[in-house]
Amino acid sequence: MNIQFSSKKIFISSDHAGYELKEYLRLFLEAKGAPIEDLGPADTQSVDYPDYGIKLALKLTDHPESAGILVCGTGVGMSMVVNRFPRIRGALCHDLYTAQMSRAHNDANVLILGGRVIGKGLAEEIVNTWLSTAFEGGRHQRRVDKIDVSEISLKKGEG
Ligand code: RB5
Repeated sequence: MNIQFSSKKIFISSDHAGYELKEYLRLFLEAKGAPIEDLGPADTQSVDYPDYGIKLALKLTDHPESAGILVCGTGVGMSMVVNRFPRIRGALCHDLYTAQMSRAHNDANVLILGGRVIGKGLAEEIVNTWLSTAFEGGRHQRRVDKIDVSEISLKKGEG
């Protein structure tokens, strides 16, 4: 499939349960010439998914124009972690429609996958779709702007 990715930097990470799929996707994206940075882990030794989710969320906070891909066993743990960070919009996608809409309507900046849930072929197609779908903006921008609850509570605190 000839997919046109945007040129944004992509950070990728996982835990041990997502390692194999993370490595597969890293090699797949590198072969396509995508600018990708692997945040680890480097092998299948047991690690804690929050450590790697936080690492990627902090990178994305420092580089807001970039994108992230995270893989754990189900994708649920990584989703819980990264979505606690302001302006991180992580989308757990196991089908192509969700992957497409998470970009078009939600401007998701982190794609999350369950390495024990889906196979490599579907994961590859999800990554292709997610990286090549643009945010539609317009009314969706207004809705995305309302997500940042931490900033809302700060404003309430100002009285
Ligand atoms: C690791 O065993 C597993 O719990 C983790 O990868 C993830 O699925 C958590 O949500």
